[in-house]
Amino acid sequence: MKILVVGGAGYIGSICAEVLLDQKHDVAILDNLSDGHRRAVDPRAEFIEGDLGDRKTTADTLARLRPEAVMHFAASALVGESMLNPSKYFRNNIANGLNLLDAMLAAEVRRLVFSSTCATFGPPERVPIDEETPQRPINPYGESKLAFEKILRWYDAIHGLRFVSLRYFNAAGASEKFGEDHRCETHLIPNVLKVALGQKKHVEIFGTDYETPDGTCIRDYIHIIDLAHAHILALQAPGSAFYNLGTGGGSSVREVIESCRKITGKPIPVMEKSRRPGDPLRLIASSEKIKGELGWRPRFQTLDAIVDSAWKWHQKFPRGYED
Ligand code: UFG
Repeated sequence: MKILVVGGAGYIGSICAEVLLDQKHDVAILDNLSDGHRRAVDPRAEFIEGDLGDRKTTADTLARLRPEAVMHFAASALVGESMLNPSKYFRNNIANGLNLLDAMLAAEVRRLVFSSTCATFGPPERVPIDEETPQRPINPYGESKLAFEKILRWYDAIHGLRFVSLRYFNAAGASEKFGEDHRCETHLIPNVLKVALGQKKHVEIFGTDYETPDGTCIRDYIHIIDLAHAHILALQAPGSAFYNLGTGGGSSVREVIESCRKITGKPIPVMEKSRRPGDPLRLIASSEKIKGELGWRPRFQTLDAIVDSAWKWHQKFPRGYED
């Protein structure tokens, strides 16, 4: 298929584009390089540097390429930042996303795979979180993604735009070529691996007094390649749908650090800090719906396997895409 990957220079988009290309799809990437990296653009893909805020470039790109489907990864995605600058989140994730949808309709492109998030749920009453769990986001990031999910429902009902919204839990790990390199790194695994590389003295643990077995927050870490395969299955989905995407397992912050110690062989000193505002104590996905309907199966079943792939990438690219 001919697919336009919007945000294909970012962490998740770059690896999805790579997997699509490996499967012989024809891929073009549209990215403004605000958070993504030129070096994360797979050289096999056509690259268009452009911003969804620029309606003309967006419309021209869709009209020229006329792809069979669009994968939309371009978004601002930091919970903490969204609490300081909500305007950026509503503008990028809703208004600019609308420019993409309207350009798709004008070019008669009616198939979209959308990157959503478990942050649309807010703190859950129970885990695992399935698709029936009420969505009550507690930050502008989650709110912006939930708003876009609602817009997608209406574009389907009114314009026949077929979509699959994938709500990721904690994307982690790397492929051989592409990995996680955020200019401002807030995520746990890359921060722990920076300590293993000697680039940071210690890793901070945000909160050790949660009501969990070891007092630290629990997350469902899903390998990026498994996530990419879910996107490819989503292209074949019979109708519009929402799917939660995780492994169904939970790992605490201390368990992640322990796994990193085992895989890297480094001691990894920690510093215990107070809680980070807005962190829910436990987020675990139920992915039974996508397993049942699309036949998705995660291949990376253990945290160690996820950390191992991330560690290999970080050793190969210790300065990320800067080198
Ligand atoms: N953490 C630390 N030290 C660090 C970094 C993180 O202790 O240096 C902790 C966090 O407090 C949290 C856990 O590790 O308890 C995971 O934190 P991440 O920042 O790696 O990931 P989040 O769970 O906060 O964020 C993820 C996605 C977001 C999404 C969010 C939903 O990256 O896009 O889940 O809650 F919105």
